[in-house]
Amino acid sequence: MNFLELTKARYSVRSFEPRVIEPETLHYVMECTRLAPSAVNLQPWKFFVVSKPEDCAKIRQCYHRDWFNEAPMYIIACTNHDESWKRRRSEPKDHADIDISIAVEHLCLAAAEQGLGTCWVCNFDVTLCRELFGIADPLEPVVLIPIGYPKVNEPGEKNRKAMDEVFVNL
Ligand SMILES: Cc1cc2nc3c(=O)[nH]c(=O)nc-3n(C[C@H](O)[C@H](O)[C@H](O)COP(=O)(O)O)c2cc1C
Repeated sequence: MNFLELTKARYSVRSFEPRVIEPETLHYVMECTRLAPSAVNLQPWKFFVVSKPEDCAKIRQCYHRDWFNEAPMYIIACTNHDESWKRRRSEPKDHADIDISIAVEHLCLAAAEQGLGTCWVCNFDVTLCRELFGIADPLEPVVLIPIGYPKVNEPGEKNRKAMDEVFVNL
C-alpha cells in the first residue's frame, strides 16, 4: 500500500467487531505513535491504553454513542502542558495540541495499515475522563481513540475541499 492508498484506507470507523487486537499488532501501532515528531523533540504526551472491561465501561461514560461502545479497546491521548514547547516570541503559542495531533494521526494511519479501524473523538466529557482515570494537570486528555477491527471495512469516498481551495499558488 503506498501512502496515498493508506490515506484513503484510513477513515473514521464507527462500527467494530469484538475481536481482540493481537499484542504484536498493537505494539506495532504504538511504536509508530512513539516515533512521531514533536517540537524540539519534547514528546509531551502520554497514551493511556484502555482494555480492561471495567476501564472500557468507564470510558464509555465519557462519550455516549452506541458505536463507541462496540470498540474492544481505546487509547486516551493526553498532552503534557509542562513538557510542550512554547513559542515565546512572535505570537506566543503552546505546541502541545500540534504534537499530540501528529502522534495520534501516526497511530490512526498505522492502525489502518494493519487493517484496524480508529476514530478521533474530541467531543467527549473531559472532566469526567479526568476523574475516572485520575488524569490531572499538567496532563490534558485531548482525544479518545476507539480502536479495533471494523465490522465492515468501507472507506467510501472522501468528501474534501478541492485542490485549488486548499493550496494557494502565489
Ligand atoms: C480533531 C478531530 C476531532 C473529531 N472528533 C470527533 C468526534 O468527537 N466524534 C466523531 O464521531 N468523529 C470525530 N472526528 C472525526 C471526523 O468527523 C472525521 O475525521 C471527518 O468527518 C472526516 O472523515 P474521515 O475521518 O472518515 O475521513 C474528529 C476528527 C478530528 C480530526
